[in-house]
Amino acid sequence: MPYDIRPLSDTLGAEIIGLDLAQPLDDATFAAVRQAHLDHLVLVFRDQRLSPQNQVAFSSRFGPLDRHPVTDAVLPDCPDVLVLSTKRKNGAFIGLPDAGPMWHSDLAYREHPALGTMLYALETPDYGGDTGFANMYKACEALPKHLADAVAGKRAVFLAGRNNKNRSFRKGLTKVEKDETPAVTHPIIRTHPETGRQSIFASPQHAVAIEGLDERESSEILTALFDHTAQPDFIYHHKWRVGDLTFWDNRCVQHIADLSRIDDPAYIRHMHRTTIGGGPVE
Ligand code: OGA
Ligand code: MN
Repeated sequence: MPYDIRPLSDTLGAEIIGLDLAQPLDDATFAAVRQAHLDHLVLVFRDQRLSPQNQVAFSSRFGPLDRHPVTDAVLPDCPDVLVLSTKRKNGAFIGLPDAGPMWHSDLAYREHPALGTMLYALETPDYGGDTGFANMYKACEALPKHLADAVAGKRAVFLAGRNNKNRSFRKGLTKVEKDETPAVTHPIIRTHPETGRQSIFASPQHAVAIEGLDERESSEILTALFDHTAQPDFIYHHKWRVGDLTFWDNRCVQHIADLSRIDDPAYIRHMHRTTIGGGPVE
């Protein structure tokens, strides 16, 4: 299959034109896609027509899939697919309408956070609902010395469901879901297991404290760190088209959803997410 890889911005991201992911990729093409993912951090495969099973099959080539703690937003006949949707049935959202209200990396609150996430756009709004992606290698390289010193060798405490807004599908996690996601700690700066490059892993949605520091110092450093990581120079905003399948590397990218139109009844955004499991953060 002939295909093109075109960078989307100076900071990260490339679109891939001409690949049909409903068909299995041959090994050479798959290897090239994997390398492009390491090089560009976020891939956008345009013009796809994928069944949930097609998406699961492609995602699974990168590793075993992870399931989300919010278990009633998954497709009943394909539970590896999480539904992100602003559509309603009998007044209730049919999926999570507001994943990612703050900058984060998926499943960072697990012992083994996600390697990568694929999000497939089935219906997109005319405007609004972009996803922001930030390059954490670049943020790490640009850390001012005082901040680099303050976080060197430190670990942060990560928690699920703490900072979510109340309009969430389930209004947060149930007790069972909470029990399954106790606080964990991870290094604030991690080394990517495949590229060997360092990046900032702590993010505002899940990293709530720095281990071993008192609350005031911890929150001062995290506030300064998160002001740094959210700078426009590190960010690409993806405007979705129907048929886009994005694939981001949670080990070196933070992302955020634009929820500014979430209360507008005319705002329809409907997506399928798969999550590839990762290893320990080191
Ligand atoms: C996610 C997520 C962002 C968005 O699916 O993990 O954060 O823009 N989504 O929907
Ligand atoms: Mn997310």
